[in-house]
This record gives sequence, C-alpha cells and structure tokens, in this order.
Amino acid sequence: MTVLEVRDVSKTFVGPVLEGMSFSVENGEAVGIVGPNGAGKTTLLNVVVGDVTPDVGSVWFKQQNITALPSNHRCRLGIAKASQIPRPFDGLTVFENVLTAATFGRVGDRSHDEDVAVESLVTTDLLAKANSVAGSLTLLDRKRLELARALASQPTVLLLDEIAGGLTEAEVHVLVEKVSQIHRAGMTIVWIEHVVHALMKVAERLIAMSFGQKIADGNPSHVMADPAVREVYLGVEGE
Ligand SMILES: Nc1ncnc2c1ncn2[C@@H]1O[C@H](COP(=O)(O)OP(=O)(O)O)[C@@H](O)[C@H]1O
Ligand SMILES: [Mg+2]
Repeated sequence: MTVLEVRDVSKTFVGPVLEGMSFSVENGEAVGIVGPNGAGKTTLLNVVVGDVTPDVGSVWFKQQNITALPSNHRCRLGIAKASQIPRPFDGLTVFENVLTAATFGRVGDRSHDEDVAVESLVTTDLLAKANSVAGSLTLLDRKRLELARALASQPTVLLLDEIAGGLTEAEVHVLVEKVSQIHRAGMTIVWIEHVVHALMKVAERLIAMSFGQKIADGNPSHVMADPAVREVYLGVEGE
C-alpha cells in the first residue's frame, strides 16, 4: 500500500525550488533522498509535513489528499519529522519533551501518553537521561531526543532531515544503527542525508534530486552509479 505520495509539486520562493517533483513511499519502506545543497530536499519534506504550501501539486497520505491540512493535523494523522537542527524545549527535561510530543502528536485517549513517552526514550537509548534538562545534552543526545520526540507522536511515516549532520563518524554509526532498528521494527522512513554512506546502510530505495527535480529513483547502488547523479555530485562537490 502507498502511504505517502507527492504529486507534481512545484514551489517558488525567490527562484524555483521544487519543479514538478513527484515521489511515493510504500508502507514499511525505507527511502533515502540525496542531492546537493540547495536541491530542495528540506523544502520537499516541509511540503509533506505542511510547513510549506506548494504553489502547484498535491500531497497524499493513505489515499487522502492532505494538501490543505495544517501541520498539526498531519502530525496526528501519522506524519512526523526529525529536523536537521534539533529544537527541543531546552528548559524542560528530556521526559517532559517527549511527553509533550506524545500528548500533542495524537488525539483521543491520553492514558497511555506516559508509556508512549517512555517507550520512545527506550528506543532511542535516552531513558537514563529522562530527568536531564534538554539544554544540557550533547549533540548526539539532542539528535536522539529529536528522534524520540518524532517517535512519541506514534507516526506511520518518519521523515528524517540530515539528522547525522555535525556528528563524528562513530556517532553517525550509532545513529544509523538506531534508525535501522526503528525501520526493522516496521517503521516507514524517508531519510534525507548528505552522508550518503550512512544512508546506504538503511535505504532500500534512493531518490536523487537536483534543482528541485527528481533525477533518479530506484535501487541505491544503481542510483549512485547513475551518470546524471554522478555528474551532480562531481560538479558540485569536486570529488
Ligand atoms: N523559506 C524560504 N524562503 C526563501 N528561500 C528558501 C526558503 N526555504 C528554502 N529556500 C531556498 O530554497 C532552496 C532549496 O533549499 P532547501 O530545500 O533547503 O535545499 P536542500 O535541503 O536540498 O539543501 C535554497 O536556495 C534555499 O535558499
Ligand atoms: Mg536541507
């Protein structure tokens, strides 16, 4: 079953950022998105969560057109995003942060919020720091908390935007293992990552973007070997 679909989305800020961008994600898939800085990757995820309104095109979640729905509504439907720069409530504890996400991320029965919050801390190896103030955490733990907050809303689709950025190689490895574990437990994942080798360990399919358009979509090693993708990386990064 297709859980998420972006159809022909275009968005112009000062110049065009997304141009006729389409992609879909099947239930249980782990899809990676790569592309040089400025390709429109973050904007694409913002269109999915509802932080950016597309000029043209539509966003579908489980066959429902959600293009006009506000972001909090989409979160309650089951779309959660962990951002590149974690922005927890620094003055609250780790537990209070995830409890807030559990409470606002869903509607209805509140009796399991604490359990959901604890579970998200167990999954992300943060339980021992439950009572630490978020502002005192290391970068890796802030990334874990960002992930925990997204999980606490009990999403169907988890969107990750360059969560490995700024970490050491060893820390990236820890994070990759964590995301891989979350995926193996059944989570549908869309992961944007500049650290391509990290992405290749989890993604079953890769989408490459350049200048707001999709230039390749398929088997990760095939996509990375695609001449158009190689040219984009060679051209921009001089590797
Ligand atoms: N809110 C905004 N206002 C104006 N320009 C924006 C905004 N968001 C993104 N952009 C521009 O859109 C382009 C693509 O950005 P982005 O989606 O962040 O790319 P990526 O995540 O692939 O690096 C960039 O040129 C960026 O400056
Ligand atoms: Mg980005």
